[in-house]
Amino acid sequence: PLISSTDMLHRAREGRYAVAAFNVHTLEMLQAVTEAAEEMQSPLIIQSTVGTVKHLGPDYIAAAATVAANRTGLPIALHLDHCTDFDIIVKCIRAGYTSVMIDASMLPFEENVSRTKKVMEVAYAAGVNVEAELGKVGGVEDDIVVADQDALLADPEECVAFMARTGVHTLAPAIGTAHGIYKGTPNIDFNRIAAIAELVTAPLVLHGGSGIPAEQVKLAVSLGMAKMNIATELRIAFSDAIKQVFAERPGENDPRTYMVPAKKAVKQLAIEKMQLCGCIGKA
Ligand code: 13P
Ligand code: ZN
Ligand code: NA
Repeated sequence: PLISSTDMLHRAREGRYAVAAFNVHTLEMLQAVTEAAEEMQSPLIIQSTVGTVKHLGPDYIAAAATVAANRTGLPIALHLDHCTDFDIIVKCIRAGYTSVMIDASMLPFEENVSRTKKVMEVAYAAGVNVEAELGKVGGVEDDIVVADQDALLADPEECVAFMARTGVHTLAPAIGTAHGIYKGTPNIDFNRIAAIAELVTAPLVLHGGSGIPAEQVKLAVSLGMAKMNIATELRIAFSDAIKQVFAERPGENDPRTYMVPAKKAVKQLAIEKMQLCGCIGKA
């Protein structure tokens, strides 16, 4: 069965590695990250955005993720990424999601606290992990668009107050990363990560994982980031592999022929990200 991400993330924080969390959009992507985890004997977080929940249906996604967990016997959690809508969170928990993110980071602090607490109540009964965000991660993720000048770093003291008020399991503090591919090197505030990690014992989440140079990922993880989200790079790998098939054979019309290389590309990239996170062999 799928399990909550709470234990695996605590273990990661203690062991100073991160669990790679992959956004998937198709069955093949879900299979690809699962095969990567199986080969690497890694714990795994499969996640979907609200857009993908609407596109595929939470029950289909939960069913496929459950098969992944049952077939491999690995610790696998299914996570709802960046959700602003309480009703969708409840729907996903009912469908079998074992981890959810309530993203009220665009709202004032008090409102973020109260919305997170409301999700904590429904998640508690179901044994589901809850992730919340403080500050604002820049870039584009699904329908959530944060312009560079509106991105906001999380305040360490505010993180402490937020944890005390909400009891949330997992915290995503904005520390300078952004969704999507960076123009140049990301401007990550490592001192801020260290300051937050000193005050907050909960596992911390690194958003905007695509495009962060390897050394920066390793440093962020060593400082306390226990989960790294990767979305854009996986989508690009998947799509590029398909584009290449059609560039070579425009008349191709058997989905299996282009899904096979697409799946392979995602699997290879997932393995690379797991190596960066240090979660290999931690299943
Ligand atoms: P990237 O698209 O930069 O990988 O960000 C992923 C993410 O944070 C999903 O929540
Ligand atoms: Zn994110
Ligand atoms: Na990114």
